[in-house]
Amino acid sequence: MRKTKALLFEMGRPGRRGASLPPPEVVEKSLDELLPPEMQRRQPLDLPELSEGEVVRHFTELSQRNFGVDSGFYPLGSCTMKYNPKISEETAAMPGFTHLHPYQDDRTVQGALELLDLAEQGLKEVTGMDRISFQPAAGAHGELTGLMVILAYHRSRGEKRKKVLVPDSAHGTNPATITMAGCQVIEIPSDERGLVDLEALKNNVDEDTAGLMLTNPNTLGLFEEDINEIAQVVHQAGGLLYYDGANLNAVMGYARPGDMGFDVVHLNLHKTFSTPHGGGGPGSGSVGVKEKLIPFLPYPLLEKDTEGNYYWNYDFPQSIGKIHSFHGNFGVIVKAYTYMRMMGAAGLKQVSRDAVLNANYLMHRLKEYYHLKYPRRCKHEFVISARHMKKKYGVGTADVAKYLLDYGFHPPTVYFPLIVEEPLMVEPTETESKETLDQFAEVMKNIALEAERDPERVTSAPHTTVVGRLDEVSAARNPKVCWKKE
Ligand SMILES: Cc1ncc(COP(=O)(O)O)c(C=O)c1O
Repeated sequence: MRKTKALLFEMGRPGRRGASLPPPEVVEKSLDELLPPEMQRRQPLDLPELSEGEVVRHFTELSQRNFGVDSGFYPLGSCTMKYNPKISEETAAMPGFTHLHPYQDDRTVQGALELLDLAEQGLKEVTGMDRISFQPAAGAHGELTGLMVILAYHRSRGEKRKKVLVPDSAHGTNPATITMAGCQVIEIPSDERGLVDLEALKNNVDEDTAGLMLTNPNTLGLFEEDINEIAQVVHQAGGLLYYDGANLNAVMGYARPGDMGFDVVHLNLHKTFSTPHGGGGPGSGSVGVKEKLIPFLPYPLLEKDTEGNYYWNYDFPQSIGKIHSFHGNFGVIVKAYTYMRMMGAAGLKQVSRDAVLNANYLMHRLKEYYHLKYPRRCKHEFVISARHMKKKYGVGTADVAKYLLDYGFHPPTVYFPLIVEEPLMVEPTETESKETLDQFAEVMKNIALEAERDPERVTSAPHTTVVGRLDEVSAARNPKVCWKKE
């Protein structure tokens, strides 16, 4: 029997209070008295009235229904849901950082500015770029910023290039970004290796090409081996290369986008640099560029005066302007910098090595029971398919994902990338132990066997969660966001 949860609004009873305080000694005027009549409240707010205990129990129970990297294995491919060390929370919560105000004089915040500078030096080293802007608040935001920088660069040369190439395996935000930036999406097919089809790329590149957006390793977890030639083809046509850094967790310390020929990169600090994301906090899609693109970055950029003091330089007349208030999500950068310092250069390299090892180990264990369209050594993630189960027993990717919930695992990313039928994109990350990977592999095997034995059991999953199978289409298309029953 599933437990439904009443809302605070339904639980409230008139007169219940969270706290009883002595009456104030000064008589305050209510807001209603202070505001002009047209701005005064027209109706009572109708807020629920509850005791403190009721509220605490309510939210504690809700929090326990949640799932996160702190509660279990979360192999959400492309999202790098790795464990976020708690020391980063501590450093970001230090009063010296939390009590700052962005309007403070630069001279009073030299320590915070130094941290930004050091974080930038670290990211420049990891990416092979020449400058970093911390303003973008997420990967998709970084993509838009980077593409705007590319377009500003072309404009500065008197060119209005409008076509942006993107592989058919790309993350959905890439074509969405291209459209948002007012450009035309040119889709490049993948070849039988699961990599960019070089011939198709050559056939689509022309004098209207603004650039190519690529993630390497790609969303199949496969390294684009022809990256040098790809970069050459695009550059020769006058286009620029954009690196979607969401998959940097696979190559940190081994390969740098700047050395592969990329001109712009965004990093998901909330993935690779282990700052919380999803429900856990805001992100940072920091953007790095090569020298010739620095004038177009969002302003201001951090610089040092002749006496060695940091200041924000606003003097970038060709800049695309500001794309975030102040300097981005500062707390996230503190966390990412803490992570970099904690790991060190050798540690970051080890991260990639372990992430790749874990993914290959798991892929090897799962390929016996799930179809592997591109059976090659992967990087940090891989894509398996439930295609055969769907055909034979009517058990598809969504059913496998839902049944995993019954075993206490968060499902992998489903139905992406689009070039694989019934796909499940698995990214175990480096922070999981072999025991966890083995447990997951066993469960995945059991699900495959169960699909054959009792398909109905799998297609009706989940059975043990607070709510059962949801109508996801209606939830997305007709969300009911008001608690009041109509
Ligand atoms: C390959 C890839 N690119 C871009 C993004 C967008 O990043 P964000 O979710 O931070 O906007 C993601 C995130 O899911 C991704 O996996």
